[in-house]
Amino acid sequence: MPKLRLRQAAPVALVATILLALSACGLTEYPNTTFHHNTEFNSAIDALFSRLVFWGTIVFVVVEAVLVYTIIRFRKRPGGPAAKPIHGNAALEITWTVIPAVILVLIAIPTVKTIFETQAEAPAGALKVEVIGHQWWWEFRYPELGVVTANELYLPVGRTAAFELKTKDVLHSFWIPQMGGKRDLISNKSNYLWFTPNADLGSSAWNGFCAEYCGSSHANMKFRVFTVQPAEFEAWARHQSQPAVFSAAPAPVTATPAAQVTGADSTAPAPAVEGYMFPRARLEADFPHVLARTPIPAGVTFDDALLAGGDPVKGATEGFLLGGCIGCHAIGGVPGAVSEIGPNLTHVASRHTIAGGLYMNDAPTLARWIKNARHLKPGAIMNTIGKGEYDPILKMTNTMGLDDRQIADVVAYLMALK
Ligand code: CUA
Repeated sequence: MPKLRLRQAAPVALVATILLALSACGLTEYPNTTFHHNTEFNSAIDALFSRLVFWGTIVFVVVEAVLVYTIIRFRKRPGGPAAKPIHGNAALEITWTVIPAVILVLIAIPTVKTIFETQAEAPAGALKVEVIGHQWWWEFRYPELGVVTANELYLPVGRTAAFELKTKDVLHSFWIPQMGGKRDLISNKSNYLWFTPNADLGSSAWNGFCAEYCGSSHANMKFRVFTVQPAEFEAWARHQSQPAVFSAAPAPVTATPAAQVTGADSTAPAPAVEGYMFPRARLEADFPHVLARTPIPAGVTFDDALLAGGDPVKGATEGFLLGGCIGCHAIGGVPGAVSEIGPNLTHVASRHTIAGGLYMNDAPTLARWIKNARHLKPGAIMNTIGKGEYDPILKMTNTMGLDDRQIADVVAYLMALK
């Protein structure tokens, strides 16, 4: 009977193997795959991976072929001769020692070469970017450009980006699958990583992830990467380095609004707002996998009709202070708003996402986020601001915070910080 079962199982096993092999095809359907060559880092790692798979496949096929042949050819047959014990075969032993040694050398040489290449110091002239991990969001600083932002990383194509990786709290890991990585962010120590987005890349959007378990919202610690043309990057960085500017009627980031207010002073002169933001339309058309798709959990209600009447000046002068926002968030140009506990909000409206890349950045979502961030994102450090909201971490209702009207003002303020 066992013989029959083996014969029946063999075709099933064959079909299963073929299906498994086929499931690995169709690369374009997996937008976060690492098997792209968008940077020299990715190319080097993928070349090494291919070589290891090549030698591994040869070893597997040869060993399995010899094994299967031996099992069938020398199996026990009824009436067959008794097995003859043997001991020692110098030629065979030398062969099976030398061949693996040669294969190991063939693997070791490119492996060591790739390690040295990818661990080397970044080339001169690289764009310096500080990556700071927080539970659970990403801070990006461009020290040479005076830019501080969160959760969205802009990189010019054709120029090496040299990352200094740090963490404010626990271990995290910086990973952009299609650009190369990943590398850990380690407490009290800087790690380094560099790569160059290919010069011929069109302006593109990518997903970034935290790849080291770091607490209850580890899976909600995402970021977006925009590899853009050098001129677009220049425009983005120039604008991002300016202090906060907002208009009563939020204008597109490339326009110059008529009425502008700097910080809390509505009489301040109006600086030009010229910048670049990766177009939302292109994101939706060409990079839908980069959009945040998390639905807002039930349980936080907000009167969306109030959003249309939100007063950005009141949001800046009252809500931002009464809500305690100023205790954690910096806004460039606003006196006192200098804290680095939460994301820098100087140009928050020029970001596509909020909350560590968990949600799209729009007024209704921002309002609910401000009202009860901890309900929207497990473990969020951001306080529950909404009056009458139940705080799931403090396990008590906030009797002090802002009502919907005041939150609508704060949202109007933040959405104007282009
Ligand atoms: Cu940060 Cu996982």
